[in-house]
Amino acid sequence: MSRKSKYSLLAVALVALAACGSTSDTTQAPGKGKLTYLGKESIPKDKAEMVFQQTCMACHATGVGPVILGRDLPPEAIKLFVRHGNRAMPAFTEAMIDNETLDRVAEMVSKSKAPATQAAQ
Ligand code: HEC
Repeated sequence: MSRKSKYSLLAVALVALAACGSTSDTTQAPGKGKLTYLGKESIPKDKAEMVFQQTCMACHATGVGPVILGRDLPPEAIKLFVRHGNRAMPAFTEAMIDNETLDRVAEMVSKSKAPATQAAQ
């Protein structure tokens, strides 16, 4: 391939990129463009809260698992589920969630008022 044709290919690529750029200014197709992050203040500083949001809610706020918030579930039962799993619910060992954190997660779930997020219908 000659030097010249290499450059013209590059030019075509640049034009194509520029075209993409101009459309993404107005529309943001899913999977394209920037990710939208929640505000910094929404990142939990507390370990139990982080486990709860990142681990439990990954299934329990998405419809993968049943709603567990606002149901007055006893903390002991919640801990049994977490340590032993049940059918599609995986078990979490102490290496994954230590006892102290699990106590607090169970308490949090037990005392919660209502689902923080509804599963998408
Ligand atoms: C990979 C997905 C997944 C994750 C992560 C997960 N769960 Fe579950 N969970 C499930 C599913 C699915 C069920 C329903 C199991 C069944 O009965 O078949 C369930 C059931 C439960 C139940 C019993 C609810 C009921 O009505 O029977 C509790 C309590 C529970 N999970 C708590 C938790 C907690 C606390 C965490 C975080 C430490 C968590 N789960 C993480 C999927 C998950």
